[in-house]
Amino acid sequence: MNAFETLKAAFLTRLETVKTDQELAQLKADYLGKKGEVTGLMQAMKDLPAAEKPAYGQKVNALKAELTAALNAHKAAIETARMNEKLAQETLDVTLPGRTFPVGSPHILSKIVESIEDLFVGLGYQIKEGPEVESDEYNFEKLNLPKDHPARDMQDSFYIDPSTLLRTHTSPVQVRTMLDYGGQKPVKIICPGKVYRRDDDDATHSHQFMQIEGLVVDESTTMADLKGTLLKLAQTMFGKDRTIRLRPSYFPFTEPSVEVDVSCYNCEGAGCSICKHTGYIEILGAGMVHDNVLKMSGYDPAKYQGFAFGIGVERIAMLKYGIEDIRHFYTNDMRFMRMFNQ
Ligand code: DAH
Repeated sequence: MNAFETLKAAFLTRLETVKTDQELAQLKADYLGKKGEVTGLMQAMKDLPAAEKPAYGQKVNALKAELTAALNAHKAAIETARMNEKLAQETLDVTLPGRTFPVGSPHILSKIVESIEDLFVGLGYQIKEGPEVESDEYNFEKLNLPKDHPARDMQDSFYIDPSTLLRTHTSPVQVRTMLDYGGQKPVKIICPGKVYRRDDDDATHSHQFMQIEGLVVDESTTMADLKGTLLKLAQTMFGKDRTIRLRPSYFPFTEPSVEVDVSCYNCEGAGCSICKHTGYIEILGAGMVHDNVLKMSGYDPAKYQGFAFGIGVERIAMLKYGIEDIRHFYTNDMRFMRMFNQ
C-alpha cells in the first residue's frame, strides 16, 4: 500500500508545478495513460492471489478516480486564471467619452444673411446675385453717380481697368435686375454679397465686407411701404419691441434719402454707451429710387416708383453680438467662430 501513497504524493507534487495544457496532458499520460503508473498498478493485479484481487482492484480504481478529480480541478484552476488574466488585459473603461468628430457650422455672417433672406423670401422677395467684378457703369453711372461726382469719394474703389472695378456696394444688382426685367414688370428683390473698398483695415473698416441690397419697384410704392418693411426688418434682427426712426440723408441713387435708426435694444431708449446716449442706433441707408436711376434702367418714373435700402451685414452682427472689431469676422480664430455654434 505504500506504493500507492508514494505514487499519489509524486503525482500531487508534479501537479503543483503544472501551468500549461501540454504539461497537464503529459502528466495525465504519465499516470493515467495506457503506459501510465496507475495502469501499471492495475496490471500488477494479475500476480496477486485471487482473494486479494477485489480489494486491490478497488484501491486502484479509487486512486484513479482521485487523480482524475485532482487533474480536472487543476485544469479548471488553470482556465480560470487564464480567463482572469485576459479580462484584466481587456478592461474596458465604459466611462471614457466617445471620440467626437469636428463638425463645422455656417459662419456668423452667413447666418445673418440667411435670417434676413428668410424674412424677405417670406415677404415675397426674390434673391438676386451679381458679379463682384463690376463695370463702372453699373456700379456708379447708372446709379446716378457720374464720373467726377463727389459722392464717389465715399466709396473709394479697387479698379481693374478704367471701366472695371471690384463693386463697392451691392446696388449695381438693382441696375442689372431692372435692365433684365426690361422696364416692364415689378421688382421685389434682395441682393446679398461681398463688396470692396479701398479702406485701411481697422476696428470698424475692412477693405472687404458684406451688404444686402433691397429693391422694390412697382406702380404704387410709397415711403410708407419702405418704413413698414424696415420696421419688420429691425424687429426681426433686434427684437419685436423695436421701433425705427428715419433721418434725412443723401445718396445719389435715392430721393428722398434716409438714414434708418433702430431704438436701442440695450437701454430701450433710455440712453447708454451702445446708442451713445441717443436711444437710437443707425443700422442702414435707404430711400425712394431716384427718377434718373429708374430711367437709366428702363423704367418710366411717371408710372413706376420704388424704394431701396442697403444693409451692412457686419454692422448688424457687431451690434447684435457686441463685437468690437470687424476684423474678427475674417481672421478665422476658431474661438471666435465657435461662439456662434449652436
Ligand atoms: N449703397 C449704399 C452704400 O453702400 C447703401 C445704400 C443706401 C443702398 C441707400 C441703397 C440705398 O439702396 O437706398 O453705402
